[in-house]
Amino acid sequence: MARVLVAYASKEGHTEHIAHHVARKLEDLRQVTRLINLTSHEGEAGADDYDASIIAGSIHRGGFAAELMSFLMRHGPAIRTHPSAFLTVSLSAASHDADELAGLAEIADRFLFEAGWQPDFVEHVAGAVHDRQLKLIEKVVMHSVVRQHGEELDASGNTDFTDWRQVDRFVKDFSRKLS
Ligand SMILES: Cc1cc2nc3c(=O)[nH]c(=O)nc-3n(C[C@H](O)[C@H](O)[C@H](O)COP(=O)(O)O)c2cc1C
Repeated sequence: MARVLVAYASKEGHTEHIAHHVARKLEDLRQVTRLINLTSHEGEAGADDYDASIIAGSIHRGGFAAELMSFLMRHGPAIRTHPSAFLTVSLSAASHDADELAGLAEIADRFLFEAGWQPDFVEHVAGAVHDRQLKLIEKVVMHSVVRQHGEELDASGNTDFTDWRQVDRFVKDFSRKLS
């Protein structure tokens, strides 16, 4: 049984949804988890006292939230001593275009280089479009990006591109590394 920290930054709530799912699945595998919402600046006391860390964040306009980098600046020394994973959430991860996937890898690599962090796992997970969370202009842009990808938007206004089986596979692989 390992103690796993799951810290996340989420603008429209989808990475939060994924982080909670990851924590639940880890607990199903008998790991003890703690979630920290970096976007709402939740308390970080004791954040260095874990056996493993998963840091999750979504991409907006080609980069990650500043809260993610500042968390790594504060807790990188502890995170570098144990198994860790970087879980990125983006629309690019839903793409089948090699250039777009290379661009995604480049954004993550640049972030990791700046953070001075080499996680054991880097998992790129496809995100979602939740219309109600978006400003009109964001909604127009996101809908056009989705259509350019040749994907459909759900009439409910919530279109989820996440491959949940991929997320579950990642949790199993990460958990195996802790035993
Ligand atoms: C304003 C805006 C900008 C975005 N920029 C990008 C981007 O540059 N690259 C990308 O792959 N996805 C981009 N996305 C898609 C988000 O990463 C995706 O919707 C994700 O699920 C958001 O996660 P969150 O709800 O946890 O913030 C953008 C979304 C919005 C609303």
